[in-house]
Formats: sequence, structure tokens, C-alpha cells
Amino acid sequence: MRFDFTSVPDRYGNDALAVDAPTNYDFNFGEVEREPGYDVIPMWVADMNFRTAPSIRKAVVERSAHPSFGYFRPRDEYFDAIISWQKDHNGLTVRRENIGYENGVLGGVASACRVLASSGDAILLHSPTYVGFTGVLTNNGYHIVHSPLINENGTWRMDYEDMERKIVDNNIKLAILCSPHNPSGRVWSREELEKAMEVYERHGVYVISDEIWSDILLNGRTHVPTLSISDYARDHVVALYAPSKTFSLAGLIGSYHIILNDWLKTRIDKEESLSHYNSLNVLSMHALIGAYSEEGRQWHEELKEVLSDNINWACDFINNELDGVRVNKPEGTYMLFIDIEEYCRNHAQSVEEVLHRGWKYGVYWQDGRPFHGEYNIRMNLALPKSRVIEAFERLKKEVF
Ligand SMILES: Cc1ncc(COP(=O)(O)O)c(C=O)c1O
Repeated sequence: MRFDFTSVPDRYGNDALAVDAPTNYDFNFGEVEREPGYDVIPMWVADMNFRTAPSIRKAVVERSAHPSFGYFRPRDEYFDAIISWQKDHNGLTVRRENIGYENGVLGGVASACRVLASSGDAILLHSPTYVGFTGVLTNNGYHIVHSPLINENGTWRMDYEDMERKIVDNNIKLAILCSPHNPSGRVWSREELEKAMEVYERHGVYVISDEIWSDILLNGRTHVPTLSISDYARDHVVALYAPSKTFSLAGLIGSYHIILNDWLKTRIDKEESLSHYNSLNVLSMHALIGAYSEEGRQWHEELKEVLSDNINWACDFINNELDGVRVNKPEGTYMLFIDIEEYCRNHAQSVEEVLHRGWKYGVYWQDGRPFHGEYNIRMNLALPKSRVIEAFERLKKEVF
């Protein structure tokens, strides 16, 4: 490996929610008395415990050396970086006019909803569901209708009939598609996306396609952008992307949308202009340019290998060592959505008890119930492998 994916970065006191927020506080249980000798292994919020690509730091530091941070316009290099990243990674041909800035992907979801739905309208989502969607939609007064994914022999699948029925029954005109899907880790195939898009098209449904995870692909998987699925998709999809998951840049803020339909693009841009808050930060612009550079691309290739190894190792460990715990191996993202139902039933224990024991022994994992997983726990595996091993050994010895 050319880059460092083994050092454990010291994130304490360095503005990291992953370690600072839960040092002795669990969102489910309040104060947690950690057992002595067990440090915190942050495995909840979706950011990475690796040093990010050196090209990003270099770009930000170089720009910071210039002592002026006044008003600015995004550079050509910013748009060129996005255009070539999309071409090379997703096979998408994008013009500068198709790209629009978003402070965050969830902000993009909110703006697109405001253009494409009225308050109180029903919006279709798959469940399990990323909690961020639930928060944005309820906060903005929409009614969420879930179409549950089906667990088919260890693979989560969309239920097209259920989607169609719910679209018709609830007069739905807007859906959110998470691709790759958080928290299940599915990387949808072209065929699956085609089938979903046929359902949407039959009922004139617009689609917000959240592709924030599209670069986090495991074991050689490839991402199929929703915009590339059909002519209908070209005209009815708002696609949301960001370097934030890929390069752990969430604290710098800076995402973007790609919209190929000029009318839709104009409407979304107008909606986003209303707050007068949705503007690019000069340092995050340089961070994106550094991320999408040649060196950033090499780092990203290595990252995918490291994450694949972590996920493969952890899934084998769960299957071989943790009785009553199941997991569908993710194809993308760095999250595991483990299912502990059998363990809970066999040992007459509640999800709370298991979760709490994990936190007590420093494994800071996340309750899956707000994601609509009744017996699920979500775990972030973007850590140096030594920490992943340590966490699972603690789970085996102290928790399960
Ligand atoms: C599917 C999905 N969308 C959006 C976000 C958040 O994006 P942002 O911080 O840019 O709003 C996350 C973060 O975990 C996510 O998993």
C-alpha cells in the first residue's frame, strides 16, 4: 500500500463527533460507564477513521497559505474535476451546466422535495431507511411511505410490486432511491435499477437518487448511475453526489447535484437560492480538487481494497464466531447492518441490553431500530483493520 490505512488517527479534541460525542454518552442510554481498560472504537457515525488522501490536505494547505479568503467564484478546475470524476468512475457525460452546488446531500434532498412535492405529500422510500432521510422528510412535513426491501437468501432486493402498489394507493409522485443503499450495502445492478425505473415511469414519479456512497464499492463492484438507466431517468432524476463519504470530508461541507433536464435544474437551483446559504466554501472547493486529483484517485483505489478486506474479514468472523448473529454481506458502503434477532431470542435478551454491553466495552456501534431494523445494529468498518479485529474480539468475548 502506498498510503497509510493502518495508523489510528488521534481524533480526540480534533473536532470529531465519532469520538468526542460519545466518550461517555450513548444516545440510547445516556451516560455509559465504560469498563476500565477498554478504549473507544468508533463504529457508529458514517465517517472514516483513516487519514484522508494527502492530496486533499496539500490542496487545502496550499490555498490557506494565501492570506485572503474573500468572495470568489468556483474555479474551472472545480467543475473539470467533477466532470472527469463522473466520466471515469460512473461513465456519465456531464456538462458544467448540469452541476449544482449543495452544502450537503440532505440539503439537496430537502430542496428537491420542495420543488417536486407539496407539504403533506407521500414520498416513497425503501426500508431499512437511512435516518437522515427520515429526519429531513418529517422535518419538512412530508408523509413517508416505506417499501420494505426483501431479504432473499442473504441479498436485499427491491419489491417492485409493493413499490407499485404503494405508489398507486398513495398517489405518489416522488421517490427517494439510495444507491448504493445505506444501511443494507446493496449496490443495485443495472437490471434492478431498470425495473425500479419502469415502475416509477409508469406512474410519472420523479426520483431523488442519493448516490453519496457511489464510490465506496467493495470486492470489485461497479456503480450504475440512475441517470444512465433510461430516457425517462435522464429527465426525471435529481442525482446527488459528494466527495464527503469517499474521502471523509463531511466536516468541510461540499456536495453537488447533477441534473440533466434543464427545466428541473432551473427549478432546483431557484429553490436552493432562496435561503441564500447554499454556497461553496473556498477551502472545500480546493479539497474536492485535491480529492479528485490523480493522487486522490490512487488513494481511493487503495481505500476500496482496505474496506473490502475489512468487510470480508468481519462477515467471516460473524458467520464463524458469533452465534445467532447474521449479516448480509454489503457490496458497497462501509457499514454493516447486523441482525441479532436469533441471539436475542436464544438468550432472552433485548436489543438494548446487547447494544449497551457493546458500548460498555468500548464498541461504539449504532442502534438499527431508527433505520427500521427491528433487531439490527449498524456498524462502521472504516477503521484500520487492527481496530476492527479488536472490536470483534471484544464482541465475541464480552458481548455475545
Ligand atoms: C445515504 C446518505 N445520504 C446522505 C448522507 C449525509 O450527507 P450530507 O452530510 O452531505 O448531508 C449520508 C450520511 O451518512 C448518507 O448515508
